[in-house]
Amino acid sequence: MKIFVVKNKQFIGTLSEEIGKIRFVYNDEIPAGSYFQGLKEKENISSNLFPIFENMLPEFEQLNFIKAQNNISTQIEVLLYLTDIHGSYEFYTQNDIEKLELQKQNIFNFIDTKEEILDNNYTFPNILDYSLSIDDSILYPNGLANSKVIGLSGYQYKFSIIKDDINKTISYDETKNSNYFMKPYSKFYTSYMPNEKDRSYIPYLLINEHLFMSLARDFGFSVPYNGIIKHDSDYHYIIKRFDRYGELKIDHHEILTLMNKNSDQKYKVSMREVLETAKMYISKEQLVELFRFIVFSVVIGHGDLHAKNLSLIYSSNKLDERAMQLSPFYDISTTKIYKDTKKNDVGLKIENRTSKVKKTDLLQLALCIDIDQNLVDNLIELTSKQFIDTFQTYIEKLPDSIKALPYHTSKYGGQKPFEAVLKEYYKNRVEDLYNNLLEKFNSHSIWE
Ligand SMILES: Nc1ncnc2c1ncn2[C@@H]1O[C@H](COP(=O)(O)OP(=O)(O)OP(=O)(O)O)[C@@H](O)[C@H]1O
Ligand SMILES: [Mg+2]
Repeated sequence: MKIFVVKNKQFIGTLSEEIGKIRFVYNDEIPAGSYFQGLKEKENISSNLFPIFENMLPEFEQLNFIKAQNNISTQIEVLLYLTDIHGSYEFYTQNDIEKLELQKQNIFNFIDTKEEILDNNYTFPNILDYSLSIDDSILYPNGLANSKVIGLSGYQYKFSIIKDDINKTISYDETKNSNYFMKPYSKFYTSYMPNEKDRSYIPYLLINEHLFMSLARDFGFSVPYNGIIKHDSDYHYIIKRFDRYGELKIDHHEILTLMNKNSDQKYKVSMREVLETAKMYISKEQLVELFRFIVFSVVIGHGDLHAKNLSLIYSSNKLDERAMQLSPFYDISTTKIYKDTKKNDVGLKIENRTSKVKKTDLLQLALCIDIDQNLVDNLIELTSKQFIDTFQTYIEKLPDSIKALPYHTSKYGGQKPFEAVLKEYYKNRVEDLYNNLLEKFNSHSIWE
């Protein structure tokens, strides 16, 4: 089995697999300066799929599902079946590559086009009044719909969509070249089945994601345009791709790939390792922005912040581009509003802690990137206070139809409106912030 790898519409090299040995060999015309992240030799050999490719695969049951459906037995072959690949990578069989017309792409610079790419000037809440013309078989595919595929920690099911603003429709994108993708909600996790012990109840996850992506935007972080659309009892999520500029594509790497690690390690590395890796590629100013995002994540209780939920993006789509910067932020939500995921403040250890992260932990973490301790102190205070001062307005802005959505709390029929869940979350968060991050204002410490 041989797979032909294309990037930025250029044939780069071949992947092959024989008796468990995976080999990637560059095409003779590719200069060493254009070699991939983690594949630095002309010929590279490993017993596991190289992280740059492995991190493009869906995880767990979704991966097994694709393998079973297509009778796949090798590690590399599954790359041929990926529908929504990051950036500009493409994978072909020998037959298909021969038919392909490859041509060099126009070059663009990410910074110059960033505002246009992000297009994030929407008003919160951005509830799309579009008709959804996507089949249930795509929204909730057989074999996935009732399985545990879609979860906070798993790799959520998603696909490319066409957002037609003239006819106000959202439809499935067969070409996979559109600038938007959708995460549909999971029927499995939105159904309340208290007697099924291994089923978590995670309703309104995508309202949650839209709310916290919007909060991040308003805190000054770069995030792409995103919105939600109602469908039956819950909402699907739509997001603009930051790795596309019209027809052109640009690449980014998740931090885990930059660490040369595979996806099973995404919760296992520490936040310090994340910062130390980023430090090798980005400016001091950008590192401070990344650190500020980590503080923001602790403040909101983003328990799913792991090493694949942060990325660096190349400065341009040139094949030999090496310069990188922070990519826009994505996949932001709070895990604190769900019973099974409420413990963690963040997904990776900050000085040995993922819950009850303290100001001193963040100060300690900041030492590894040489940020001034007063600046860190200020960042923590400003971020916490902005959350305390503004979060309630986000709840108020939600329409009654969302505020009133039922959130089940007991098998005896107990439920409360989603608005009450968010208000309770806010109250608990404020209490935690005073206890852990704003120590000097803590009523206990006044008496100590
Ligand atoms: N708007 C975007 N444009 C381009 N690439 C994106 C965008 N959002 C996410 N990605 C890429 O796709 C990957 C998966 O997206 P995302 O993190 O939103 O999915 P997920 O299934 O919720 O992940 P998780 O495994 O964390 O649950 C990201 O790690 C990132 O590399
Ligand atoms: Mg993610």
